[in-house]
Amino acid sequence: VEIHGANHYLIHQFVSRHYNRRQDEWSKPYKYPLAVVDEVLNTVRKFADKDFIVGYRFSPEDPEEDGIKMEQTKELLGYLSSKPLDYLHASLMDIHSKTREGKYEGKTRIELIREWIDDKIPLVGIGSIFNADEALDALNTGVQFIALGREILLDAEFIEKIKEGRTEDIISYFDPTREDNHNLPPNLWKQFDNGFY
Ligand SMILES: Cc1cc2nc3c(=O)[nH]c(=O)nc-3n(C[C@H](O)[C@H](O)[C@H](O)COP(=O)(O)O)c2cc1C
Repeated sequence: VEIHGANHYLIHQFVSRHYNRRQDEWSKPYKYPLAVVDEVLNTVRKFADKDFIVGYRFSPEDPEEDGIKMEQTKELLGYLSSKPLDYLHASLMDIHSKTREGKYEGKTRIELIREWIDDKIPLVGIGSIFNADEALDALNTGVQFIALGREILLDAEFIEKIKEGRTEDIISYFDPTREDNHNLPPNLWKQFDNGFY
């Protein structure tokens, strides 16, 4: 189970002051995410097998002026790192992206996040990894795992091709002339064709 604390979904809306305008006890930005984490972990402890893993995905920095900043993410990670979670997952569109503003402006987000988690919990990185070299560059940021979004849709055999040394066969770009190329369901193919990619 991955608890989805990222990308402007419900948990994110409690963490971000841009959304959380509450006046009650839930106005505290970390109360809701930590309550969800505790509830999920308790349920897993009670009902799941020992090897059942639970992660937490977070968005480190918001575009909104009063949204989440890296300073706040440092605080959140302090709380999350003390929980018996199996991994943390930083939601980024580019794993090498830099902090937009504030005290950490210009610093690579994933490196800050790694430093703050301090190897207490494995970290998953994601964002704009489309070929084997980019996967290596991403792992060289020091994250324990990388996740793939668009690339695994463009080429579902990405991992097998790397394992088999066929990195030159990896399909790294969307080809609008080849509806058969990516094995995408028609509606998703249309989304890519409309420029989602
Ligand atoms: C078709 C598609 C749908 C996505 N849907 C979601 C979503 O529902 N929730 C979410 O948090 N992220 C969603 N994402 C974002 C991905 O989880 C990922 O963070 C992002 O695409 C960056 O990784 P990538 O460069 O490997 O694609 C989606 C991405 C794609 C391509």
